[in-house]
Amino acid sequence: MTILQKSTSLAAAATVAVATFAGPAAANGGEVNLYSYRQEFLIRPLLDAFTKDSGIKVNVQYVKGGILKRMQAEGEDSAVDAVLTADIATLRQHVEADTFQAVKSDVLAANIPAQYRHPDGKWFGLTVRARVIVHSNARVKPGEITRYEDLTDPKWKGRICTRSSGHVYMKSLLASIIAAKGEDAAQQWASGVKANLARKPQGNDRAQVKAIWQGECDVALINTYYIGAMRHNEAEPVQKEWAAAIDVVFPNQDDRGTHVNISGAGVAKHAKNRANAIRLIEFLSSDKAQSYYAASNYEYPVKPGVEWDPEVASWGKFKADDTDLWKIAELVPQAVLIYDRAGYR
Ligand SMILES: [Fe+2]
Repeated sequence: MTILQKSTSLAAAATVAVATFAGPAAANGGEVNLYSYRQEFLIRPLLDAFTKDSGIKVNVQYVKGGILKRMQAEGEDSAVDAVLTADIATLRQHVEADTFQAVKSDVLAANIPAQYRHPDGKWFGLTVRARVIVHSNARVKPGEITRYEDLTDPKWKGRICTRSSGHVYMKSLLASIIAAKGEDAAQQWASGVKANLARKPQGNDRAQVKAIWQGECDVALINTYYIGAMRHNEAEPVQKEWAAAIDVVFPNQDDRGTHVNISGAGVAKHAKNRANAIRLIEFLSSDKAQSYYAASNYEYPVKPGVEWDPEVASWGKFKADDTDLWKIAELVPQAVLIYDRAGYR
């Protein structure tokens, strides 16, 4: 069964019954049940290392979407202990829906900087990614664009591509602009970028780079890890050409820094294996797991001092916007309204 088929059948099952985590008997340390938005190849080796260390067996269901709805439907009967996810906006949805519980852990407090975890321990960041500007290295000169705010300059009219504003990455970026400059400035930004779009927002982050390669636009916004994913794509080598057509700009280096986001984890409200779930998240925040977890998807470790993957290091050091991510997450609903008012779909 492929991963895709598996997710589809699990999603179907979730509408009729509480999902079960059937499998071989638990190891000595008991078990922990995960729902993961993250793909299996990214995390399986880490989970196996955790089991080896702790004797705790990890059962995972890989789900692309619908985890929140599933947890809400399952309620107290839910067998899930922890959720692994990408993006602060998704973590916020879980907190709002009350599907996560507060966790206090000295290990997590020591390993994860405060701006990358929930104030009451309802989620913890595990890897960091930056949302950067990329531009054609043939049609845009180095230094021509250095800030998110530059994207509203009329000189870029008809030259910018982005994915839909409905995506969490776009919502979180605009929320970071509200946090930095207020709602009016954020509205001007959304309207200004919309006015410069080369085409209706569409596709994922990589599709924007492809569009630059094809000459459809000159400037785009993407998450950093896609640069590594494209440069090293042996399965679809044409993506190496897409990546070779762009230069990367870490925006706003002379002021607030580049907007960053996280992948993270939360302990489920009705976790039956709470202690094991916390132990797993602590393991994922350790030096040992951090370098591997970050490198597996060309991300930055959340724990300071952990070495970066050579590909990631090749993009250079940068200043990150250190605004508390929870504050940014709380502004996401406002960001949605702003995109709507701008007619930015
Ligand atoms: Fe992504």
